[in-house]
Amino acid sequence: MNFDINGIRSQFPALNREVNGFPAIFFDSPGGTQTPQRVIDKMVDYMIHHNANSGGVFATTVETDELIFNARKAFADFFGCDWKEVSFGENSTAINFRLSQAIARDLKPGDEILITDIDHDANRSPWEILAERGIVIKSVKVDTETLTLDMDDLANKLPSKTKVVAFNYGSNAVGTISDARKIIKLAKTVDAITVVDAVHYALHGVLDVRGLDVDFVFCSAYKFFGPHIGVLYSKTQRMDQLKTLKVSAQKDHAPDKFETGTLSHEAIAGAAEAIAFIAEIGSKHPQYLNESHSKNSQRRNNIICGMMALEDYEIPLANYFKDELRKIKGLKLYCPPKQQLCTSTISFRLEGIHPLDVAKRLAEKGIFVWAGGFYAVGLMKALGLSDNGGMVRIGLAPYNTKEEIERTLQEIRSIAGAL
Ligand SMILES: Cc1ncc(COP(=O)(O)O)c(C=O)c1O
Repeated sequence: MNFDINGIRSQFPALNREVNGFPAIFFDSPGGTQTPQRVIDKMVDYMIHHNANSGGVFATTVETDELIFNARKAFADFFGCDWKEVSFGENSTAINFRLSQAIARDLKPGDEILITDIDHDANRSPWEILAERGIVIKSVKVDTETLTLDMDDLANKLPSKTKVVAFNYGSNAVGTISDARKIIKLAKTVDAITVVDAVHYALHGVLDVRGLDVDFVFCSAYKFFGPHIGVLYSKTQRMDQLKTLKVSAQKDHAPDKFETGTLSHEAIAGAAEAIAFIAEIGSKHPQYLNESHSKNSQRRNNIICGMMALEDYEIPLANYFKDELRKIKGLKLYCPPKQQLCTSTISFRLEGIHPLDVAKRLAEKGIFVWAGGFYAVGLMKALGLSDNGGMVRIGLAPYNTKEEIERTLQEIRSIAGAL
């Protein structure tokens, strides 16, 4: 594959950093990726040349409205939807709290909501809190061997009283990609609203909300080269019905009706540029297109190709990384079986060494990884790792290299006492 890794890396100024004399290795992408210069430039440009509130008649406010509109169109191509179906918010957690509270306005005691044990807490707590209104929350179990959702348990917990099915597309802890199409199809048999957390998945796969026929999907641009901002897709028909939490003066139609107060315009500018960055990569990898893409906009097709090119670069690297990790005595990998779709996120524990100590040792060598439970509370509990440090998590991004993997393997072998 002709992936221009040097060209990609040269666009990320953060990658020039050194720690204790070592070039920094950014393996923290599930927590957030680094940012290309063009995204940073767009944000600075906004603050210097276009900074204003929206809705006025003078130059900078008109430009701000144009920028927001164009960003909605960019994200419409990212999700595969209409621009009116794109709303912005502070982050995914805040978006989901607002969404769950709005949906709950139409629920009654005894109604049920199905969440899952593989989810980040951002797609659990906003629903669990509704128990105080008498709403019954059930959680789908995870198979602790395969690290996938127990689909029989899901089907069993889906009675006709289920009003919402909220689940995770990609696990930020262990990388499992859930079968969203199948889950949504099942949810539809009881006419439940579907809410998908695509925060981890969005860096690793193409989002196709029409193909999924999903109602709500949220993600956060800082996980895919953008600034700290959350983005929500909502199906028009669902958003039209939704009693959002809004001030009376706010517009009463999508996409504005979901947004509260003044948005982070500079972050919106940066987020749209992150999409342009992905699309530009895709424009150099048109080989992924086929007849089924012929009705898409050029930008949507470029985004699709960009996402596929990134994964085709990362997945073989991740597979190599995992194969080498498996050889280390006392190292337990927490990753789905080979036939299961998953992202390039790799988690493990070393026997007798606390995950935080592993992360600290790597940090000293300039290798940035996370240790802990990553807010994946249900999964950590199921695996018995809630109270003993969770896991060490390595998350690849398209700017990582084979050399970085070799250096990290060397350090992990040394920590494990295998050298
Ligand atoms: C899978 C997943 N869902 C939700 C979130 C929360 O996103 P935010 O920090 O934008 O609220 C995260 C953050 O790490 C995540 O990884």
